[in-house]
Amino acid sequence: MLINSIPQRTIRESGTEPVRVVVLDQRNLPHKIEYVELQTFEDICNAINDMIVRGAPLIGVCAAYGLYLAAFSLKDLGLDSFQTKLKEFTDKLIATRPTAINLRNAISKAIEFIGHFNSTEEEVHASLKYARNLYENEIDCSRKIGEYGVKLIEDIYQNKKSTVNILTHCNAGWLATIDYGTATAPIYLAMERGIPLHVWVDETRPRNQGAKLTAWELMENGVPCTLIPDNAGGHLMQHGLVDLCLVGSDRTTRTGDVANKIGTYLKALAAKDNSVPFYVALPCSSFDWSLLDGINEIQIEQRNPEEVLYVDGLADGKIQTVLVPPLGCNAANYGFDVTPARLVTGLITEHGIFKPEEKELNKLREIINIKG
Ligand code: MRU
Repeated sequence: MLINSIPQRTIRESGTEPVRVVVLDQRNLPHKIEYVELQTFEDICNAINDMIVRGAPLIGVCAAYGLYLAAFSLKDLGLDSFQTKLKEFTDKLIATRPTAINLRNAISKAIEFIGHFNSTEEEVHASLKYARNLYENEIDCSRKIGEYGVKLIEDIYQNKKSTVNILTHCNAGWLATIDYGTATAPIYLAMERGIPLHVWVDETRPRNQGAKLTAWELMENGVPCTLIPDNAGGHLMQHGLVDLCLVGSDRTTRTGDVANKIGTYLKALAAKDNSVPFYVALPCSSFDWSLLDGINEIQIEQRNPEEVLYVDGLADGKIQTVLVPPLGCNAANYGFDVTPARLVTGLITEHGIFKPEEKELNKLREIINIKG
């Protein structure tokens, strides 16, 4: 998607032996557009942990490159030591962001993919191939999510014959993926097709991904949008000002419970109470097929309370951080919540739109050929 009218992606390769990655540094957006080169496995872990990169699909791809860089650094070891050490690296990588399942899915599939070779050289090569495949696949998934999801927007427009108002939470845009986004993919396609639409953007405290990232990427790509405080959605829905809620997911169970950025659950409750359709857009890499009960089984990341206590933004031409509550105030920082399947209208995936029910999702599992 576009930054300053130039097509960009969140991550790209640079150099050889080893291949490094250059990522768009999301910490100071929208006020500073900077790219960072990640040269080592440790750089990748820090980038995920510090949210230089964030958003479940992007974290997954970044982690796959991290695994490659780890494998490359171990290439001179014997095969047994290589595999033991690689396991230590993967444990470290998985611990960086515990809720987004894409990270774990990417690592376990990469390990499976590279595990059939008889030399470290071949395994290193396979780990890079895996990262590249995942990168291309995530772009393809986003595009297909867009193609399925845009039909919902088209239908609303056909009925309403006026601007379609969509509410989104956090950033499930192209910045959270490689391109197009998940929740934003149908929105970008609807724009391409000339459907008049407008997006309500939740600011998404405490990290303000809505204010800093979603509002910015929509504006850069010419999508009309309005920033709202996190608490405004219910009021807008009561007054008929939201036609559709579209959010992303960091992990979704086989029964259709959806973990997403903290506050998503409250939007889903308000949507249910006001008969507003509530859709979740996600690639299959965001499913955790091992889980049945999202509320009790999904690990919710708890982040540094300072993210709640302090806010940052542009002042006097510089990015500055200020303390909001009284000095010494306690704060809790739960990163995600779980929206139970009963509040979700449908799951928009790269294979179509599915009801959030185990029986329906089994059909999706058959399509992607996952057993167990
Ligand atoms: O903590 P973050 O910024 O990584 O959280 C991101 C979200 O919650 C997104 O909405 C989610 O990853 C959806 S994926 C496009």
